Amino acid sequence: MILILLSIILALSLVQYIRFQRKMSFAKNLPTVQPCYPVVGNGLMFLGKSGEERFNNLSGVLKNSAKLFKLWLGVYPFICTSDPGMAQKIFTNPNCMEKPFIYDFFKLEYGLFAAHYNVWKKQRKLLNLTFNQKILNGFVPIFDRCAQNLVQTLAALPEGKSINITDYMNRCTLEMVCATTIGSDLNKNPGVNKLMTLIIGVFNLVSARILNIPLYWERIYRLTKDYRKEVLMRTEGYSYANQILQDAVDRRSKQVARTESDETDDDGYRRPQIFVDQLLELHEGNKLEDIEVNDNVYTIIVAGSDTSGTELGYAALMLALYPDIQEKVHREIVEIFPLEDPVNFKPESLKQLEYTEMFIKECLRLYPVVPNLMREANAEFELDGMKVPKGTYFLVSIYNMHRKKEVWGPNADKFDPENFSPDRCKERHPFAFLPFSGGNRNCIGSRYAMISMKIILVHLLRSFTLSTKMKSEDLRFYFDGMLRSINKPQVILERRTFASLCVN
Ligand code: HEM
Repeated sequence: MILILLSIILALSLVQYIRFQRKMSFAKNLPTVQPCYPVVGNGLMFLGKSGEERFNNLSGVLKNSAKLFKLWLGVYPFICTSDPGMAQKIFTNPNCMEKPFIYDFFKLEYGLFAAHYNVWKKQRKLLNLTFNQKILNGFVPIFDRCAQNLVQTLAALPEGKSINITDYMNRCTLEMVCATTIGSDLNKNPGVNKLMTLIIGVFNLVSARILNIPLYWERIYRLTKDYRKEVLMRTEGYSYANQILQDAVDRRSKQVARTESDETDDDGYRRPQIFVDQLLELHEGNKLEDIEVNDNVYTIIVAGSDTSGTELGYAALMLALYPDIQEKVHREIVEIFPLEDPVNFKPESLKQLEYTEMFIKECLRLYPVVPNLMREANAEFELDGMKVPKGTYFLVSIYNMHRKKEVWGPNADKFDPENFSPDRCKERHPFAFLPFSGGNRNCIGSRYAMISMKIILVHLLRSFTLSTKMKSEDLRFYFDGMLRSINKPQVILERRTFASLCVN
């Protein structure tokens, strides 16, 4: 029986392989990562390897100096690059806005992140409005409250102890995202906590599948333990999520109509218009289906919390590793938000945090939480003199692009926020820095992320100095959809007394 099954799989794979070989004839002059074998492609470099080996092997081959080259994940060929010019051509081409089959593993086909082109195109137009600057400004008091909760939690920990700071950051960004997405207070609603654990659990299983080539075939995946785990988690997750969404629908139906003036407070911030309300408004106007509301709620919760939280873990470690840089960020923060006054975040004051922004960007450069991006041609287009057929897959290595010496100079591996000084930025290719991806299918939450991360850093550095026993070399990564380190950033927090703060 097993033999018959294996023969069928092999025969089907061979047919697929031949089909793709023919399709890739347009790229026959591009180099291929070696060793590459029929049917398995470059898959052997990942088969049976640890997560760290997979990460190192993949980023090793993606360092390729050719502007474009081919990597075969089993029978599936990907055209790869880490060149800013090529990335620009790929990300800005309207005929290259599709996501490859790997995004189907997330099973959120009606959420922006994994949606196929036609669904995405309609939704992105509608959802761009829900992330406008006014709405984001309305979230500032929520970000402020959550960041204060974080600092209180950290202040209650025993001093001088090394802590895994990413856990605390993740909790804070999740609290922010739950409040702004579904209007739920994480501290009062244990169901939300549970839902998040389940969503992250599913995402981890999906990430594990990305380099496990035999599991690309749904029928084979269905035979595995991971699949059974995933189904259980999804079922439980949907029941929590349905309850939370129902609460939002009920709350909305009770709401009295509000006037524009009711919605603006004295600081010029609008009262928060949480996402689920905006999605439900689009649903009531027949612009979004039920499933589109649900899938986008899940998508935004995951895309919005784990990413910023993980990045802030790296940011805290960088502050701890480079005391001079920490001092400079701190100085700017207390200049703009003097210690004698309560913090009052105005849109202009957040913009004034220029060095802090340069610092965050440098963290995003060396530690881009989304290290690899994929696209698929949704129609034929021309790239570098080649006619790229519909259905061609692309992989852009952001991690390698951000560390390229040709782009960032001989000290590309060194942590230096000055890389983002206006002078240095002027000289650089506009697509050399892509932590939020590029073109129309970029991160819809990039401004949300920058504002919330700045607010967290303001509160963190007004309250603590950070140090660490780790070295930057201790950060070793394992393969995942996100850039995750094996040994998590560990920092030691020391409370700043008001006197010590005023000396600064
Ligand atoms: C440091 C923080 C963040 C980083 C580095 C980041 C990065 C990215 C990247 C690289 C993509 C493109 C993925 C791809 O093409 O495969 C993306 C997409 C997306 N992100 Fe973010 N993100 C962050 C925070 C957020 C936040 C806070 C939200 C929402 C509140 C968010 C919501 C989304 C959504 C919905 C998409 C899909 C967009 C589309 O396909 O139209 N992200 N993000």
